[in-house]
Amino acid sequence: DMGGHDTYMHKEIHEQADAVDRALRGRIDDRFSTVHLGGLNLDARDARAVRRVKILGCGTSYHAGQIGAQMIEELARIPADAEPASEFRYRNPVVDPDTLYIAVSQSGETYDVLAAVQELKRKGARVLGLVNVVGSAIARETDGGIYVHAGPEVCVVSTKCFTNMVVSFGLLALHLGRTRDLSVADGKRIIAGLRKLPEQIAEILANEEEIEKLAGEYADAKSMMFIGRVRGYPVAREASLKLKEVSYIHAEAYPASELKHGPLALIEPAMPTVAIVPDDDLLEKNRAALEEIKARSGRILAVAHQVQEKADHTIVVPKNEDELDPILMGIPLQLLAYYTAKAMGRDIDKPRNLAKSVTVE
Ligand code: F6R
Repeated sequence: DMGGHDTYMHKEIHEQADAVDRALRGRIDDRFSTVHLGGLNLDARDARAVRRVKILGCGTSYHAGQIGAQMIEELARIPADAEPASEFRYRNPVVDPDTLYIAVSQSGETYDVLAAVQELKRKGARVLGLVNVVGSAIARETDGGIYVHAGPEVCVVSTKCFTNMVVSFGLLALHLGRTRDLSVADGKRIIAGLRKLPEQIAEILANEEEIEKLAGEYADAKSMMFIGRVRGYPVAREASLKLKEVSYIHAEAYPASELKHGPLALIEPAMPTVAIVPDDDLLEKNRAALEEIKARSGRILAVAHQVQEKADHTIVVPKNEDELDPILMGIPLQLLAYYTAKAMGRDIDKPRNLAKSVTVE
């Protein structure tokens, strides 16, 4: 039942405020400025013993893991990174007993992720799951974990589940941080930011008409560039994937800092750029990248906290805490992908060549 929406993608994009609310419900502990994650199976001593975090997932879930790794580094100061599970399992990785492994998956059935989990367990590693589907294979094979509570996701491309994965990583990062050196004051700051998310998501979605118009302006592009820096880079990668999947427009994501090392050669009026420009300590650096693009007559659509002078259009999103901003900045770009695909008459819920869960090698 699509409840009045024309596609599941549209419905699921609009379910995000409620979905995030569900991910937070019953988990926040104001007394100690932390969170309770019931199924984690990781006591404070175990949490303190973790020396590294390695996050494994595929596609959109891998991108959620990239944002999650940054959150864990920032809030808990534990070295963390994400890698496609499909690459990890084929390269005979060094498996380290002091590393906490986290498998991320909407379906909980993706074969590459499951095989990576099984290989890790066979080598004695501790593996947690960050999964949407309760009781799925990955949820069962892991030592514990977090359910992301996005609810059923029917559209082949992931939207609300991605958002809830990133929120769940925020909860985990806060939890790990508060067993270490994250202060009570910073814990409170992050909790206040998490609580603001549902309302801010609703605010972004209320802007839908503006995004629909913009999609009309960019639907003629043969190819699009997506750029972001540090926190914005995985947001750019995910937005680029979403556009490719539903509209079949070619898109590339690059760190804004790498533009001058090659891809700047692609910039011309026919190659528009979508730039993630948060109001954080890298704002001036990001503005400089916009200038470089403008100087080559590139069209720019910015997603930012304030109107960007160098951009042809800015989608202004509400500001949260710096660490949580990536959760919000991708949401208008889900709508951009949706409306671009709609303008092109694509089969939005079932893009060609794709399946909802990839249970084969
Ligand atoms: C993107 C998409 C795929 C999946 C990937 C992993 O919109 O749907 O990239 O994210 O196949 O699937 P799960 O999360 O079920 O392991």
